[in-house]
Amino acid sequence: MSPSGSTRARLSGTRPAGTDDETAASRRVREMFSRIAPRYDLLNHLLSLRFDVIWRKRLARRFAAILARPDARVLDVCCGTGDLALALADATTVSAGSEPVRMLGADFAHPMLARAREKAAGSGRRRLEFVEADALSLPFADATFDLAATAFGFRNLANYAAGLRELRRILAPGGSVAILEFAQPRGALFRNLFRLYFHRVLPAVGAVVSGNAQAYSYLPESVARFPSPGELAELMERNDFCEVAFEPWTAGIVTLHTGRAPA
Ligand SMILES: C[S@@+](CC[C@H](N)C(=O)[O-])C[C@H]1O[C@@H](n2cnc3c(N)ncnc32)[C@H](O)[C@@H]1O
Repeated sequence: MSPSGSTRARLSGTRPAGTDDETAASRRVREMFSRIAPRYDLLNHLLSLRFDVIWRKRLARRFAAILARPDARVLDVCCGTGDLALALADATTVSAGSEPVRMLGADFAHPMLARAREKAAGSGRRRLEFVEADALSLPFADATFDLAATAFGFRNLANYAAGLRELRRILAPGGSVAILEFAQPRGALFRNLFRLYFHRVLPAVGAVVSGNAQAYSYLPESVARFPSPGELAELMERNDFCEVAFEPWTAGIVTLHTGRAPA
């Protein structure tokens, strides 16, 4: 059975209000994140009650085996202000006493990267580098990375299949991918409470603190439009990932998707 029109639309990629093609969607996403960069971290921690910090650390712990290898090459895609890259770098130190040879973050919003570079410099992590790049056209050779991870970034891509193909392309044989994203929580009561928070409280607080109402109404809209965990897993399999799996965390507010490039 082929997917219905609305499912196809959800599977294609993000479309912020007022955009109807990939180019316009990408441009709008980049402008939005560039504008909210100065307040991004504050709002992230505030609106998630600091669960975002726990989720990134948990993701990093899941890949301790890769991060323990001194030769590991790791990429944080859509790295924003660098919090996942920093969490991965912290996990590396804990497990191996040294940072991986290559730890990179990539994002296309310059002001977000500027914050990431400041934070990395402040943390004294010399081997953590940040590159301005579009996740749909990454400036890396095929088979470069052992782990490509992304937190709350994948949902914003204007073409999910193209994003997966690019992640698959840059992974070394046997390399792992991790996609952490918001999802629709499970359980009717919790789902309704969460919806109230996500669609009413969060956009209002986000608008006041960031001064950008559009960015914080885009957040719940983009999550509502994002493929379900099962749909994304299927898309990963169709794009040549193996060992595809997903697990809901924190009552299903977020889902960790994992997969590997065939060895
Ligand atoms: C919600 S933020 C997440 C940032 C960070 N990963 C975190 O955990 O806080 C989404 C990020 O994805 C970036 N982004 C969205 N689409 C992108 C693309 N096509 N290429 C590169 N970065 C992209 C945005 O610029 C933004 O910094």
